[in-house]
Amino acid sequence: MYLYGASGHAKVVIDIINASGIKIDGMFDDDNAINELMSIPVGHHWSGESPIVVSIGNNLVRKQIVQKLQCDFVKVIHPSAVISPNASIGDGTVVMQGAVVQSCAQVGEHCILNTGVTIDHECVINDFVHISPQATLCGNVHVGEGAWIGASAVIIPGVKIGRWCTIGAGSVVVNDMPDGAVAYGNPCRIKYFDYSLCCENTGSPIAIYGAGGLGREVAGGIQRINGAGKGNWNLVGFYDDSKPAGSSISHYGDVLGGMDALNAVDEPMALAIAVGDARIRRDIYERISNDKIYFPNLIAPSFRILDPLTFKMGQGNIIQDSCSVTCDIEIGDFNVMNGSNVLGHDVNMGNFNVLMPGVRLSGSVKVGDCNMFGVDSVVLQQIKVGDNVTLGAGSVLMTKPKDGHTYIGVPAKKFDYK
Ligand SMILES: CC(C)(COP(=O)(O)OP(=O)(O)OC[C@H]1O[C@@H](n2cnc3c(N)ncnc32)[C@H](O)[C@@H]1OP(=O)(O)O)[C@@H](O)C(=O)NCCC(=O)NCCS
Repeated sequence: MYLYGASGHAKVVIDIINASGIKIDGMFDDDNAINELMSIPVGHHWSGESPIVVSIGNNLVRKQIVQKLQCDFVKVIHPSAVISPNASIGDGTVVMQGAVVQSCAQVGEHCILNTGVTIDHECVINDFVHISPQATLCGNVHVGEGAWIGASAVIIPGVKIGRWCTIGAGSVVVNDMPDGAVAYGNPCRIKYFDYSLCCENTGSPIAIYGAGGLGREVAGGIQRINGAGKGNWNLVGFYDDSKPAGSSISHYGDVLGGMDALNAVDEPMALAIAVGDARIRRDIYERISNDKIYFPNLIAPSFRILDPLTFKMGQGNIIQDSCSVTCDIEIGDFNVMNGSNVLGHDVNMGNFNVLMPGVRLSGSVKVGDCNMFGVDSVVLQQIKVGDNVTLGAGSVLMTKPKDGHTYIGVPAKKFDYK
């Protein structure tokens, strides 16, 4: 067996392999200055030797090395670890001294379960995750690809940690964490987002559902995210049921097919739903049955959060240029903020809402699901907007609207279509 990576983390991996009675045939490292580690010679030119365990602590670097090596990978498990016979551990994963993995837990490939961690029943840990020493994951916790859980953190049952999150040492995580969040404390709160950590950096494929105007805007937004060094998405194309496969969409790419083609994708792929009609957005999401598809938040680098510690956000949101939010903001899933939107303090927004450019929601506004706010419309403070409301362009909503109706004007009045 061979090790790739010859730093401090590798020293522990060597101990684990020695304790398991397995022979180490050699080591590799890209750093030409490292020629030996714990009396094992370190080479710098890998030429297919295998099987390998990548002994690098940094999740992103580990992933990049794994992608570079085309070979067999092995898992290494210290004899003192207690692994349920009903749990599964992926290839390339290292399980350190005293770790406990309980029944029906699923641990992905190239993870690190560090010293003394507890992974309770039915947890799902995706590839390239690092659970640091003494961290405790209660039952049914899900951890997204590449996330790093700090030492002695506790994650309560059923919580979902997004892809490439960082959870600080000693945190107690009581809420789901969106992709790329850096969060800490008890209770654990988001401090900021670091999308540069996301797997986006490794050129992850992303597609856009909806090949219309919003689709092109989202494509441009993805280019801006990449250009600002906040990701390295590889835009593979568009899905759309109303345009034939092969149609080219400006200079961004081609239509790859419709919903059937999307549901047949067999490798993990990110997707942005770029359809401006709020209810159709939800309908599209509900028709996606392919569990290889995931929904990152796509956030323009210019997005400003006054108080990241009190900011919460779900998945699949699209936030275009020049939007800003203040404090105690909660945004659900699959909302579109289409540019120059301002959310005041304590705004709470549900799912599948669309805010056209220039929309402002004043302090303590509560918004349900599938609402559409027209260009430059305003909602005054403390108004509760339920579901399926349309607010016309330039309108000012001053009273609570009825679900499912359209409001226009200043002040906005219910508009009845004849
Ligand atoms: C969460 C973490 C990534 C934040 O790193 P960072 O963004 O560089 O943060 P900083 O070090 O600049 O600290 C910023 C503030 O957050 C506080 N802070 C940092 N980490 C914290 C934590 N885990 N819990 C509580 N507060 C924390 C600092 O005290 C500082 O507070 P201040 O602004 O009042 O002075 C890091 O501190 C951490 O906990 N890493 C995990 C380490 C670990 O478990 N390693 C295991 C290796 S096997």
